[in-house]
Amino acid sequence: MAHYSRVSGTVGLITLQNPPVNALSAAVRQGIVDNVKRALSDPEVKSVVICGQNGVFCGGADIKEFGTAMTGPPLVPMIHAIEAANKPVVAAIEGVALGGGLELALGCHYRIAHSKAKLGLPEVTLGLLPAAGGTQRLPRLTGLPAALDLITTGRHITAADALKLSIVDQLTDHSAVDAAVKFAKSVADQPLDTRRVSKQPCLCPPDVGALFEAAMQKVRRSARGAIAPVACVQALQAAATLPYALGMQREKELMATLFTSGQARALQYSFFAQRVVARWSMPSGTRWDSNKPRTIRKTGVIGLGTMGRGIAVSLAQAGLSVVAVETHEKTLKEAKQAISGMLERGAKRRGVAPVLDLITYSQNLQAVANVDLVIEAVFEDVALKEQIFQQLSSICKPEAFLCSNTSSLDIDLLASRSRHPELVVGMHFFAPAHVMKLLEVVYGSRSSPEAVATIMNVGKQMGKVSVAVGNCRGFVGNRMLKPYLEQGLFLLEEGATPELVDGALEEFGFAMGLFRMSDLSGIDVGWKVRKGEGLVQPGTTVRVRQGRRYSPLADLLYEQGRFGQKTGRGWYRYDNSREARPDPWLHSFLEGYRAQNGMAARRIDPQEVLERCLYTLINEGFRILEEGIAAGPEDVDVIYVLGYGWPKHRGGPMFYASMVGLTKVVERLEYYQGVHPDVPQLQPCRLLRRLVAAGSPPVHKWRDVIKKTHSHL
Ligand code: COA
Ligand code: NAD
Repeated sequence: MAHYSRVSGTVGLITLQNPPVNALSAAVRQGIVDNVKRALSDPEVKSVVICGQNGVFCGGADIKEFGTAMTGPPLVPMIHAIEAANKPVVAAIEGVALGGGLELALGCHYRIAHSKAKLGLPEVTLGLLPAAGGTQRLPRLTGLPAALDLITTGRHITAADALKLSIVDQLTDHSAVDAAVKFAKSVADQPLDTRRVSKQPCLCPPDVGALFEAAMQKVRRSARGAIAPVACVQALQAAATLPYALGMQREKELMATLFTSGQARALQYSFFAQRVVARWSMPSGTRWDSNKPRTIRKTGVIGLGTMGRGIAVSLAQAGLSVVAVETHEKTLKEAKQAISGMLERGAKRRGVAPVLDLITYSQNLQAVANVDLVIEAVFEDVALKEQIFQQLSSICKPEAFLCSNTSSLDIDLLASRSRHPELVVGMHFFAPAHVMKLLEVVYGSRSSPEAVATIMNVGKQMGKVSVAVGNCRGFVGNRMLKPYLEQGLFLLEEGATPELVDGALEEFGFAMGLFRMSDLSGIDVGWKVRKGEGLVQPGTTVRVRQGRRYSPLADLLYEQGRFGQKTGRGWYRYDNSREARPDPWLHSFLEGYRAQNGMAARRIDPQEVLERCLYTLINEGFRILEEGIAAGPEDVDVIYVLGYGWPKHRGGPMFYASMVGLTKVVERLEYYQGVHPDVPQLQPCRLLRRLVAAGSPPVHKWRDVIKKTHSHL
């Protein structure tokens, strides 16, 4: 809807009304069309202001309408009518002007923004392009290089940057609506020809061909198979080379291809999934809306290695005070320097003052006596962690929350060492912790709903997407990774090379194949985990352990001191660089291993790599849903997209399975299980079969089937 009033005598004020972000639903578009007509036909009205209610201009097209039959007036003619108006129309931008919201503003003759407003054309992040003239008008204002940057990345910019780029005409620290009304009066009789952006030329640099060639190369490299960024470049190329009307035609054609694509569906699913996970629930029936988080002000971080540093930075950047404890003197000194550097760089990037004084340092655990919440990030050593939880339980205030950043250990065990197990929760951050958006919030069997609500809220304050998950080995993300990594090793045994496996996964869209990832995180890290599980048997190549197929290949590399990037050798070789190069040593090592174990190498094609690695990972995801460790497919998918480099435009493993077709996933798993009966992970799990039996419902209906499965247990 849109509200209309006449203000200050001669200004028609149109206010978009669609909480919470004034998205351009059919009703809002109709309201704009009607009220623009009304203002233009009212002889008392000399100029018009368009604004949004509750301090938000407009969050763009209504994403919920995508995929439904479109009703109401379309955006393009609506914006053209505004631009063609014979009275000045001024956009008053507060809060956000994103997507269609910014396109609406670009159709206005002037734009006044509040200094705290954010602007952008984020359609590409939803698998689309700005198709209401955004790709044609923006470059006419900003020039092509800036428009290429904004439209292909979808990033939001500050009002100050928008002013520099000529996207807005004026900033104000006060009400943008008041400023716009005043401004509208002052320009009431001014000619509008030069204010109609579509009538302006799109200025091209002399080397425009080279500019587009470079832009295309850049997006193809970073898009990892996503089609929308490529289409964005093509639409901008049309702006540079065609008259406006033909450019608009090209924008429309490109959008038509994107709009119905599977990638757009996946990215839009991801957008909502990231919001669904905030409405967490636990198997006990406890829900996000029935528990109030406690306010946290003072925090502590124990252990300032790789993870502790990033966690301390994130907490301080969220405005929380941090007591940072590290027992090792030299590490403490290095950590202080590293943390200050991270805070300073972060502050510079965000144009704010660094919050160095929010962090105090100590070598003594007693220093956390007064905090509301502690996050432990010491070595992944269960005995050490148990001891620390015992100590913290007597040092800290009895009401303090005690959290662990363990990546796989039993939260219930750590809780059992505390006098207040109900206040113990896992906070599994991802490296680097001040950059990665994901946080797995692991509730144990005794964690109180208030503790979960509080930690979820702290995660949000830290700018993370927090996903509540149950307690099991590896939680959700690392647990699913295990069968995926194992399949990679089995494929090497059967004849593949690391390059072949990684090539298939990277072609699929992963940022990094599994062997490059293993080299980066360290072959020693996985070895320690397997040792903890009793799987490592040094010096042997026995290929069945704990009753199932096991590949000792990674253990053998560990025994050779090949830990990955950190030692310059792993599944690849790194000659003083981070670039992974195929290693002839590794190839002959694999040949020797196969010969020793009587295994003949066979030709393995990329399709087999994808099916075996991805379907076992997906199958484990279904087991996790079946056990109630994750509440729904969205939770699993958000974890994989934000924490494990799963290609965003494929939605996540669960969404991907629904796109492939659950019947096909079951068939292929059954086929591979027939060939490898000693790999139980290939056996399709009960929930997967149940969903197939239920007719493979769309992913948003899975929760109903999961609920029924649980009620039958
Ligand atoms: N269409 C439909 N719903 C939208 C929406 C849109 N364009 N933008 C936001 N919403 C909904 C969210 O789904 C959420 O709904 P919920 O409360 O039911 O979960 C609610 O509005 C609030 O959004 P949220 O993202 O939680 O609030 P925020 O204050 O953190 O962020 C925005 C606000 C506008 C920055 C953010 O929502 C956003 O980026 N929206 C998408 C903008 C966009 O891509 N527009 C182009 C569309 S083609
Ligand atoms: P790290 O080895 O880099 O750092 C651990 C730090 O803890 C060291 O600086 C050590 O001196 C310190 N420490 C040891 N005992 C201590 C004590 N009693 N008091 C105070 N400090 C003590 O380890 P990391 O990679 O930062 O991992 C920390 C935890 O985070 C582990 O549980 C790990 O599983 C988990 N984790 C790691 C990653 C990763 O990618 N590195 C990702 C997610 C979770």
